[in-house]
Amino acid sequence: MSVAEKFLSMEYGPAPEDPREALVWLDQHGRKLGHFIGGSFRPPAEGVYFDTLDPSTGEPLAAVAQGSAADIDSAVKAARGALAEWQSLTPHARARYLYALARQVQKHSRWLAVLETMDNGKPIRESRDLDIPLVARHFYHHAGWAQLLSQEFPGYVACGVVGQIIPWNFPLLMLAWKIAPALATGNTVVLKPAEFTPLTALAFAEICQEVGLPAGVVNIVTGDGSTGEALVKHPDVDKIAFTGSTEVGRAIRKATAQSHKKISLELGGKSPFIIFEDADLDGAVEGLVDGIWLNQGQVCCAGSRLLMQESVAETLIGKVRERMSMLRVGPPLDKAIDIGAIVARVQLERIQRLVDQGVAEGATCWQPPSLVMPSRGLFFPPTLLYNVHPTSTVAQQEIFGPVLAAMTFRTPREAVELANNTVYGLAASVWSESINVALHVAAQLKAGVVWVNSTNLFDAACGFGGYKESGYGREGGREGLFEYLEPEWFKRAPRLETKPRAIDQPPEQEIDSAAPPIDRTVKLYIGGKQARPDSGYSFEVRAADGRLLGEAPLGNRKDIRNAVEAARKADGWARTTAHNRAQILYYMAENLSQRAGEIAGRLAAAVGKEQAGAEVRQGIERVFSYAAWADKYDGAVHNPPFRNIALAMHEPVGTVGIICPADRPLLGLLSLVMPAIAMGNTVVAIPSEAYPLIIGDLYQVFETSDLPGGVVNMVSGRCDELMRVLAEHNDVDAIWSFAGEASSVAAKSLSVGNLKRVFSDEGRAVDWFSIKQGEGRWFLHHATQVKNIWVPYGE
Ligand code: NAI
Repeated sequence: MSVAEKFLSMEYGPAPEDPREALVWLDQHGRKLGHFIGGSFRPPAEGVYFDTLDPSTGEPLAAVAQGSAADIDSAVKAARGALAEWQSLTPHARARYLYALARQVQKHSRWLAVLETMDNGKPIRESRDLDIPLVARHFYHHAGWAQLLSQEFPGYVACGVVGQIIPWNFPLLMLAWKIAPALATGNTVVLKPAEFTPLTALAFAEICQEVGLPAGVVNIVTGDGSTGEALVKHPDVDKIAFTGSTEVGRAIRKATAQSHKKISLELGGKSPFIIFEDADLDGAVEGLVDGIWLNQGQVCCAGSRLLMQESVAETLIGKVRERMSMLRVGPPLDKAIDIGAIVARVQLERIQRLVDQGVAEGATCWQPPSLVMPSRGLFFPPTLLYNVHPTSTVAQQEIFGPVLAAMTFRTPREAVELANNTVYGLAASVWSESINVALHVAAQLKAGVVWVNSTNLFDAACGFGGYKESGYGREGGREGLFEYLEPEWFKRAPRLETKPRAIDQPPEQEIDSAAPPIDRTVKLYIGGKQARPDSGYSFEVRAADGRLLGEAPLGNRKDIRNAVEAARKADGWARTTAHNRAQILYYMAENLSQRAGEIAGRLAAAVGKEQAGAEVRQGIERVFSYAAWADKYDGAVHNPPFRNIALAMHEPVGTVGIICPADRPLLGLLSLVMPAIAMGNTVVAIPSEAYPLIIGDLYQVFETSDLPGGVVNMVSGRCDELMRVLAEHNDVDAIWSFAGEASSVAAKSLSVGNLKRVFSDEGRAVDWFSIKQGEGRWFLHHATQVKNIWVPYGE
């Protein structure tokens, strides 16, 4: 008798969880719930309600309010009104509120778990053992951050009023991931739960009342996408935090481009589950069950792509099928159920459509033949698609259902290539008994979380979030708090006055005649070589008084493309040791210092003697500073409450396009390029349009400092035009725009294609001469993304 047969021969009676307490709560509210605004429940302004259903039966649970723009406005006003008082509390007082929330969640854990399962359809075992304990843990952990805020984040202040939009797959857990860090850092919030699963958010609202949280600190407005849109567009919201589909994430990036709202996006994924031939195959299959069938596969980091080493593929497929045959699909309140209901009919239909498409594109579909499916409700059987081609739809698109797409690989290198062959980069799972293989592969995966011989582990102390189109920003851990904070000076910085650009200034005749002869023609700097511009044109660079200073190459689209290609090719820079990068930066500072006099002399013609001298002096210091930082901006080792550690590695973002400040041609460029390369990024920089000739001085410094070709590329020309090409280029991972408001808006709206990370001056003035404003951790934070690698550790 096989294991599966033995298992199936065992009889399981139903073990239903009692829903009474949750039903009583719904009845107490007359099965009709309004918004939670300013500390109390109130009906929607337009009087519209919609039903939220139990997906396992199709029956309505309650009517909830459809939020309108007027409701959002009331909630934002309540949050704004509560802000000053909330911020005036001591960190300890805020910590006590968070602690009280954690305690209260724990006290109500069963009620919350049942309500969650009824509204969402997930097995009670999961809501009881995973979701709700993690919710409590998140509030406890962040009560601690609230307590330590001023000690651990000196110089940082809260964003203000935060709009938060969450999905339906982990309704209360996503609420906790959003609200706990926001409150801990002194923000007030307006949260919109997903339309399919609003109930536990409203239950949480009641918990806020129970603990006496000051009115307006947390507001909950229910509704659909249009309610979310109203929140995103509200002018008095300082930050938007979103979890959901990549498509809506893009819309939010676009909709907020004109504003100064800070945003964080946690989007979709198509995470690889990689099994090597030396793995503990049974352990890996158990992990896989958790990886893809947890929450019916409706998990953004689901291990939905199974990559198997060819030598064990057949054995594995056999084991997977055997294990799948043991999965029980049925009423989610039954404690013996593994797979519950799909959240909504539209999702069920989408899953079926994608599976059909997979089969049409050549995949073989297998579902356990002995499976007993419930006769009503929204259920989908556990499904295995194999013989899947890596480029087919089911290997590339997020299915968000209990569907596994299996492929094979031969070598670790091929595994990495396949794993990274996706626009997403949320998570990955690697299974091998060899620590060398597992960690060698983990280092190469482009994903925000890598689980070694484990899967779907989450903890409040460990950041979670994606690379590439899986979004930006992290939730959890120290890095998660930065999403809700801003440097105090930056929040209060004055507007940057952008002067008319020299490139557009017509030469003034009488001054021109007195000008000295042109003695300088610089070139572009691409791939470590001085290059003539593709256009064959140069433009005159003039001093403020109109004197001709020299000619700079007029770079165009083609030059930017070449520069990006060179930057991409130089990706070996990310793998050089931090010590080596530090050495090269020190060498640069040395060479800059040797040429200080001549560089300052030339720069003086553009910005005046005093500023030129100061820029060179401070510039040398800045390069020195980042040489020092190169091997000191370390990651961390987290100790989650499991038999694991999580290595939080600071990895470079990739290729960064940098638009440099106009008024500090040397210091501005160095202040942005140096932190980027110190952390292992490669750069395409567009120098100050007012004085692009600075690149001639800089490439001489770079060339004599052993900087590998392609690490820094510089293309001069019309900033707006070149920035547009950079922002739209799919091989650029981030845009740093420090040339004023218009440039910042354009960078944000043009970069939605591949969801580049945008770091900008938001049109505010940065004092590049100040160490506090012009250098340090703020820049390094943007130059890196955290990858959490979970490794089994301990007894
Ligand atoms: P969605 O992205 O439309 O919904 C997520 C949240 O955003 C909901 O609260 C929704 O009301 C809100 N929303 C929708 N349109 C909005 C807009 N224009 N502005 C502001 N807020 C808006 O996701 P949906 O339609 O529920 O699911 C579709 C697909 O998205 C799924 O099949 C799955 O592939 C993916 N998804 C990914 C999630 C993740 O955790 N990464 C979570 C949910 C869905």
